[in-house]
Amino acid sequence: MDSSFQAILDSAEKAFSNAPDFAALENAKAAFLGKTGQVTDLLKGMAQLSPEDKKTQGQAVNLLKSAVEEALNLRREALADAAMQAKLSVQAIDISKAGRKRGGGGLHPAMRTLERIETIFHSAGFDLADGPEIETDFYNFTALNTPENHPARSMHDTFYVEGGHLLRTHTSPMQVRYMQTHASPIRVIAPGRVYRVDSDATHSPMFHQVEGLWIDEGISFADLKAVFIDFLKQFFETDDLIIRFRPSFFPFTEPSAEIDMAFTTGPNKGKWLEIAGSGQVHPNVLRHVGLDPEKYTGFAFGVGPDRLTMLRYGIHDLRLFYENDMRFLQQFS
Ligand code: DAH
Repeated sequence: MDSSFQAILDSAEKAFSNAPDFAALENAKAAFLGKTGQVTDLLKGMAQLSPEDKKTQGQAVNLLKSAVEEALNLRREALADAAMQAKLSVQAIDISKAGRKRGGGGLHPAMRTLERIETIFHSAGFDLADGPEIETDFYNFTALNTPENHPARSMHDTFYVEGGHLLRTHTSPMQVRYMQTHASPIRVIAPGRVYRVDSDATHSPMFHQVEGLWIDEGISFADLKAVFIDFLKQFFETDDLIIRFRPSFFPFTEPSAEIDMAFTTGPNKGKWLEIAGSGQVHPNVLRHVGLDPEKYTGFAFGVGPDRLTMLRYGIHDLRLFYENDMRFLQQFS
């Protein structure tokens, strides 16, 4: 290649390799191969040449053109390669990285508490029983020493359903159902949903109770206190609890007590919260199921697990449990 052509080729190679991207490369190409580019001008100039010169000059110009085009293609490939490398480095997959965690569900705090209570009483030798949420008046009231027109019925704000049935207002009907079908001695808990026309920060129209019942010869109120306090210590994983048994009235127990516990955390710190009703099973209830109250005695309690959850986690409003706000529930997953 003659030196002037070589100079054109050199400057083309330099211009191409200096082009940082495809747009710049197209501009650089125009200066050589475009309509008024240096190589194009040479080709145009051939028209004036003699046939002899056309031949030799033509070959030389074509060589130059091919060389310039090759340089252009080399640069194009280099740019494409660099672009691919850049893309790959951004999208790089590190197969040694740990996988992304899927947000799994968790047990509802109310269910966690129920399971906890079941485990604790199971270890104390209590069986587990389950019964209907749609109850008869007999099991919910009459068999529990609460005959028609008894004033205690008005404490319950009952939901009545068709056919003279009702939504059980407490799990206490399970005492009767269980004693009817099982021989003494009896040691059982019956967790489940109960319903009342009631709604505020510590009451919800549907809530949970766990009924407890221990019937045998010589079971006393002292056993109730021992069993229940021991349960609370295990549930809250501390001996440092503020508990009181407050004399109360239930038709199906005599004597009766409500069990209160004080909040030790949260905005209600120091306030009492009623967590259970309890007492010695009333002789009339035992007679209803054919047990001799002279021989058998026992205690019963109905504890509110939702209240225990509130105390355990320092939650101030029971209704949070049933609104299903993920921000609340995720704290327990
Ligand atoms: N059933 C009562 C209520 O819901 C609570 C209760 C009180 C249950 C005394 C008992 C008991 O087993 O002995 O208000």
